[in-house]
Amino acid sequence: MTSQNDTPIPVTRTQRPASRPDDATLSFGKVFTDHMFLMDYEDGKGWHAPRVVPYEPLVMDPATSVLHYGQAVFDGLKAFRGRDGQIRLFRAQRHAERLNKSCRALCIPEMDADLIRRSFEAIVAADHEWVPRTRGTSLYIRPTVIARDVMLGVHPAHRYTYFVICSPVSAYYKEGVKPVRILATDTHVRAVQGGLGEAKTAANYAASLSAQQEAERAGYTQVLWLDGVERRYIDEVGTMNIMMQIGEEVITPPLAGTILDGVTRNSILQLLRDWGHNVSERRISIDEVMQAGRDGTLREMWGTGTAAVVSPVGELGYKGEKISIGNGHTGMLTQKLYDSIMGIQYGEAADPHGWTSVV
Ligand code: COI
Repeated sequence: MTSQNDTPIPVTRTQRPASRPDDATLSFGKVFTDHMFLMDYEDGKGWHAPRVVPYEPLVMDPATSVLHYGQAVFDGLKAFRGRDGQIRLFRAQRHAERLNKSCRALCIPEMDADLIRRSFEAIVAADHEWVPRTRGTSLYIRPTVIARDVMLGVHPAHRYTYFVICSPVSAYYKEGVKPVRILATDTHVRAVQGGLGEAKTAANYAASLSAQQEAERAGYTQVLWLDGVERRYIDEVGTMNIMMQIGEEVITPPLAGTILDGVTRNSILQLLRDWGHNVSERRISIDEVMQAGRDGTLREMWGTGTAAVVSPVGELGYKGEKISIGNGHTGMLTQKLYDSIMGIQYGEAADPHGWTSVV
C-alpha cells in the first residue's frame, strides 16, 4: 500500500488552461483550478496510481454506491501566498491524519498519511499560479474519498476514488471579521456519541441543512448545535467549533465523539495556552452560557474553522431570548486570534510549532 510513497507522482498537464479570475472577484468554492489529484483503490490492489491530471468531470454509473449511501469523506485546508512570494500549506500533516480518521469512521481503507500530504503538495505545485496574491485570499484544497462500487447492497465498497480539487477563495469576511447572529436549537440535533459527528463526512452537512434553513428564516446566520441526548450541552456552531470567554476562562466543548477535531480549534487552543490563558475543554450547557450573557460575564464568543479562521458571535438566541455579546464589535481576544493565525499562515509571524510548510 505504501510502496508508491517515495516515487514521483506523475503529472499530466492540461492542454487547455483556463483563465484565472481576478483576486477581487473571488468568493468561496465556485472556481476550480486546471488540475486535480487522483488515486484509486481496489480490494486486493490497495491504493494505487497516484497522479495529477487535468481537472475534468468524474463519470459515474448512476448505481455508484456513494450516490446512494453516502460513503464519502472529505477534508479542507488552505495554501497561502505570502508577501515573500512563498506558498505555504497550513498543518498539512494534521489534515492528512484527520482525513484518515474520517476514513476509519466510514469503513474506507486508510491511505498512507505521508502520501496524502504529498497529494496536497503535488496539486498545489501543479497549480501554483492559481494561489491568489492578495492578503486574505488563499487556495482552498478539498481532498475527498468516495465509494465507487456499482451496486445497491449496503456494505463497505470494494472500490474507491480519492481526488483532490482546489479553488482560489477570497477572505471569508472581505471587510475583516464581522460578528454573526446564532440561534441555539433544541428541535434538531447534528450528532450523537457513537455516530458520525467527529468525521468530516457528507452526511453531517446534509443533516445540518434544515436547521440552518430555519435559523436563516428567523434572521440568524448559523445554528448553535446542542448535544443530541439531553439537548442541553453546546456542541458546535454551524460547520465550526465554538469557543467563548466567560470571566477569565476560555471554554470549548471537549472532543467526546460528536464534534469535529478542528485544526483551527487545535491551533487556537495551543496559542491560548502559549499566551497563558485559562483554557478549559469541558461540557458547557446553554443555560450556563445564557446566564453568563445575562450577568455580563460572557465576554466573547467565536466559531473556529478553516474557511473563516474565526467568526465572532455578536448575538445568541435561545427559546425566544436574545443575548447580545460585545455590542456588535469583534472582541479583543477574537481579533488577536484571527490576526495571529493569519500572520503564521502568510509567513509574517514566527511559527513556533512548525505549522506551515513551504511548497
Ligand atoms: C470550515 O472550514 O469551517 C468548514 O467547515 C468548511 C465548509 C465549507 C464545509
